[in-house]
Amino acid sequence: MLWPTQRLARAAGDPFRNRLPQSRLPRPFTVPYRQPPVALPVRSTADADYFRITMAPALVEIVPGLQTPMYAYNGTVPGPTFASTRGKPIVVRFVNTLPAKDEALGYDQWTSVHLHGSPSLPQFDGYASDITLPGQYKDYHYPNTPTARTLWYHDHGAHHTAENVYQGLFGMHKLRDPAEDALGLPTGEFDLPIVISDIMLQADGKVLFTLAEDNGMYGDIICVNGRPWPALKVKRRKYRFRVLNGSVSRSYNLSLSSGDSFQMIATDGGLMPSPQTVKSFRHSMGERYEIVVDFARYDPGKRIVLQNDSPKNNQKFPNIDVVMAFDVVDDAFDPSNNDVPSKLNPDHETMLLNESDAVKTRQVELIRTKGQWTVNRVTWQQIIDSNFKLTLARPEVGATEIWEVSTQGGGWFHPFHIHFVDFLVLSRNGQPAFAFERGPKDVMYVGENEKVRLLTRFDAPGKYMLHCHNAVHEDHDMMTQYEIVKNGVSVGNDPFSARAIDLPEATPL
Ligand code: C2O
Ligand code: CU
Ligand code: CU
Repeated sequence: MLWPTQRLARAAGDPFRNRLPQSRLPRPFTVPYRQPPVALPVRSTADADYFRITMAPALVEIVPGLQTPMYAYNGTVPGPTFASTRGKPIVVRFVNTLPAKDEALGYDQWTSVHLHGSPSLPQFDGYASDITLPGQYKDYHYPNTPTARTLWYHDHGAHHTAENVYQGLFGMHKLRDPAEDALGLPTGEFDLPIVISDIMLQADGKVLFTLAEDNGMYGDIICVNGRPWPALKVKRRKYRFRVLNGSVSRSYNLSLSSGDSFQMIATDGGLMPSPQTVKSFRHSMGERYEIVVDFARYDPGKRIVLQNDSPKNNQKFPNIDVVMAFDVVDDAFDPSNNDVPSKLNPDHETMLLNESDAVKTRQVELIRTKGQWTVNRVTWQQIIDSNFKLTLARPEVGATEIWEVSTQGGGWFHPFHIHFVDFLVLSRNGQPAFAFERGPKDVMYVGENEKVRLLTRFDAPGKYMLHCHNAVHEDHDMMTQYEIVKNGVSVGNDPFSARAIDLPEATPL
């Protein structure tokens, strides 16, 4: 069976035929930086905040003067940013008002929404086959129990996650807690999202889908918070940037054009035990890295570019080696919260795990067989065909395990993501983890011919997905599941135990 993008690619002849020419793309750093809007609750009680988010087609201006039909959460790409507080749960009603079929590719437009980084119950986790059809809605309950971190939400609908995310169904979710607030890190206007995505457009403004063989979808426009190569004015002090790679297939190796170092303070699961001073970091899809850059050392008028020295196996285009610019200005600024303490969060449970407590070591191989990307030679289609019984692993509640994840024999890199847990990277090819990844993680870059060992603990029962976060791989079909069990028995909630409901909304939020 051909995937929708494969069919299109094969029918197209020259896939770049209708591409918006380079001459019509904006020059880097000509568009101002902007944050996505903040998600506002429709109702708040002492126990929870309630949100309503509609998924619908929207016309979005990526290239100035050109309208691009996309899919959006509440009308914007990226969707609105959630600002949550640890201990205050939220309920989000996601309403699917998308067309029955995707116009360009013809697939049936089901969705499933995943809050990536949240230990949600299986029925609220965006399980790929727990779908919401156009004309339906589903209420997702998010506990907001973990430590402060940067999460993100995105579509996870089985077999067309890549196309849905590429067309705009992604957004950031910030979770704060008092321990982090007490650290004095840059806050407010000095704590900014950098949501990176890439896209390619046709001359008429529509999204252009091209497949680099069957390896991924790559754009020639690099966006930050939905804007192409923006420029941000920065004052002469420290800034915290929450960098999310929301691209479908593109990985980055990011650094500052000044060659200066900066501090890595947090990874996917929140603050690191202590900050790490680095000059660059390799950033795969789905990962979050939080950095603090000190602009105090630059003269006003200086421009620092966030640049990308592309890791291998990424399709290259003229300006993908730059992401955005920081323009230093002489404006007065609030000098408070201008510190990075030498200890951030030494007590994150995952970072306190000991390798010697592991009761099991499992092998996970990310491998391509018979034209399909697989995890241990299993595809999501096989999970569907097993009526969702097949699992890769059945760890016990409370068990600490080592997983050895490899791409041996494969000429490709795969960002490996496990739902529900945070893990720590024990080693890479027998070497210590990179300095920038010495924090709690939920996605790790498994490079070409690499073997990466992770340590994690499974704290509560349930059935969850794990997959490659190259969404093209994930869809075809490098995704499987595991189940956390008690004494060998399933006791978790079933991922299908809270199905979507037909519109109109039966109960008000
Ligand atoms: Cu960010 Cu299973 O996903
Ligand atoms: Cu996830
Ligand atoms: Cu992959």
